Amino acid sequence: MTSDTSHAQPSFTVTPLPKAASEKHNFGAVVEDLDLENIDDCNVKALADAIWTHKLVVVKGQQNLNPIKQWELVTRFDPKAPLVHSHGDLKTFNKQGGLLSRGRDVYGVPGAENVRIIGKGYQGDDHFGLKKTTINKELAHLWHNDKLPDEDFATGHTRFQRWHIDAPLYARDPAWFTTLRCFKRPTEPEVTIHWDDGSGLTMKAEPGLTAFFSNVQTYELMSQEEKNMADHSWVEYAPHPYQWMGSCKSKSTGLGLVNQNKEKTLLELEPYEEGNVKKYPMVWINPVTGERAFMVHGICVRRAFLRSSPTEEPEVVDDLDRIRAWLATIQERVLKPDYIMMPPVVEGDIVMWANYQMFHTAVDYPDHWGARTMHQANIGASTGPVGPVPIPV
Ligand SMILES: [Fe+2]
Repeated sequence: MTSDTSHAQPSFTVTPLPKAASEKHNFGAVVEDLDLENIDDCNVKALADAIWTHKLVVVKGQQNLNPIKQWELVTRFDPKAPLVHSHGDLKTFNKQGGLLSRGRDVYGVPGAENVRIIGKGYQGDDHFGLKKTTINKELAHLWHNDKLPDEDFATGHTRFQRWHIDAPLYARDPAWFTTLRCFKRPTEPEVTIHWDDGSGLTMKAEPGLTAFFSNVQTYELMSQEEKNMADHSWVEYAPHPYQWMGSCKSKSTGLGLVNQNKEKTLLELEPYEEGNVKKYPMVWINPVTGERAFMVHGICVRRAFLRSSPTEEPEVVDDLDRIRAWLATIQERVLKPDYIMMPPVVEGDIVMWANYQMFHTAVDYPDHWGARTMHQANIGASTGPVGPVPIPV
C-alpha cells in the first residue's frame, strides 16, 4: 500500500445517477475506473468523501474482487474502529439479533466472516468456500401487521420490508457506511411495491434491489419549528432494542410500528449495561458537506427528550404512541415514490451508502423468480453521530 498519497488526485470518475425530471430524490452517483483490489489511501479517502457527498455510490466493475478486500476497504474507511462488524460476530448476532436474525440464515464468507452473505435460494456449488448452500428466510414482509395475501405476492405484488439504518443501537455505534456487493439476482419480471396504507401509492422496480431515501431530504421537508426542535432534541433507544421490540408488528409501508403494547419490559430483557444504552441526537451532521439529516430509528426508540433551545429543560416523552405519531408525520413526507430510489445493481457492482444520512429497506420477490446473492460489510464506527448542538448524555 502506498504510504504518502496525500497530494495525489483521485483516479476514478464520479457521475450522478440519471433520473427522470419528475423524480425528487437528490442522491446517488456511479463510480467508475476504480479497482478496489488495489486501492491506495488517497482513493480510499476520496471514495469516502464521495459517499458522504452523494450519500450513495455504485462502484462498477468489481467482478474479480476478493471478498476479504471488501472487508479491508471497510476497515480503511474508519481505521480507528474496532475490527468487528457493526452487528458483532456471527455467533452473537445469530443468538442475540432478535428481530434482525430471526427467521433467516446469516452466513459469513469463509475466511472473511465479517462479509455477510445476504440473499436467498441456492448459492451455488461453491461460493467462495460456502458449499452447496441454500439460504432460507421467511418472507420479508411477514412482520407487517396487515398481511399481504400470498396469492398477490406470488405474482410480484410486494412491499418495503423495514426502513432502517444498519445499527445495533446498543453498545457499538452504527457504521458510517454500509457496502453491499451484488453477485446475483433475478432482473425480471418487475415487482409492484404497494404502500397498502390507504394512499393507493405503488411503484414498480426490478426484483432483488434495495430501496433508499435520504433523511437530508426528510429534514428539508420539515417546518422551521420542527427543525428547531429536532436540532436540539434527542432519543434514547431501548437496551437490546431488537429484542425489546421483537414481538412488535410493522405498518404496511415498512416505516414504523403499529402500537400494540408488545414491547418487552426492561426486566424481560437479557441483562444489559446502562452505559451501552444509546442516546443520539435526532439530527446528524454530514462531516463532509455539513448537511443535516433527521435520523431517528423509530422502531427502536424508547424515550424522546424534546427541547427547542440548548438551555431548555427537555420534556421527557415515554408515550410510544405519541412519539411514533410525531415521527410518522415527519418521516412519511419523504416516503413517496419520487423520493425513493432503487439503484439498479448488477454483478460486479458494490453499492456504498452513508448510513448516517439514509434509510434503506429490502423488497422481497417470489422465490421461484431465482436466487439472490449479495455480500454486505460494515464496521461499528470509531465515533458515533454528531448533532448540531451537544446533547447532555
Ligand atoms: Fe440493512
